[in-house]
Amino acid sequence: MHEKFEALIEGYLADDYATCEDFFDEKLIAALRKNLLKGHADGIMHRAGVGKQSSFQQNQKVRGDVISWIENDSIEPSELGFMRIVEAFYRHLNQTCYTGINGCEFHNALYETGSFYKRHLDQFKQDSNRQFSLVTYLNEDWVDTDGGELVLYLSGEEKIIQPQGGRVVFFKADKIEHEVRPASRERMSIAGWLLRE
Ligand code: OGA
Ligand code: MN
Repeated sequence: MHEKFEALIEGYLADDYATCEDFFDEKLIAALRKNLLKGHADGIMHRAGVGKQSSFQQNQKVRGDVISWIENDSIEPSELGFMRIVEAFYRHLNQTCYTGINGCEFHNALYETGSFYKRHLDQFKQDSNRQFSLVTYLNEDWVDTDGGELVLYLSGEEKIIQPQGGRVVFFKADKIEHEVRPASRERMSIAGWLLRE
């Protein structure tokens, strides 16, 4: 795990973002995907909000995913496995970069065919506790023509990332604007933030 933690940290220090393949092993990704799809079938996912005051209709123009938050004390095995690794990662990040992360929040997200999330920044204006964004993809056999790319707007460059299962993207939540482009199939991810509260 250590080399993967280092890969994300080195990328972030050099470029403000990093990606890593197979950050979580294949079995865990498959279990997380199954868990997300079960939650969706059971009707526990709900339309995601945007700012604090925006209306439902305004939200729909900005983002179309449905989400369910992962409780920090979840005992569901795949969510627990995910959280343990994330916590080990941010402890390592704190030790090497003095980042002072003391919490995290993550949600399962499902984008139906054609839905998107317009260009945005993850750190709220009113609230700066989101320090880093960490997105994990759960999609099997994603191909370029499926769309659904994550676009990172770096200074002077757009970085396009396919939401391939097992891939993780890590970036500064207050710096990197990004968007999710519409896909021609259902698109699943776990998106979340490392917090300094
Ligand atoms: C988000 C987000 C990116 C993705 O949920 O804030 O930007 O690729 N998600 O799912
Ligand atoms: Mn985002």
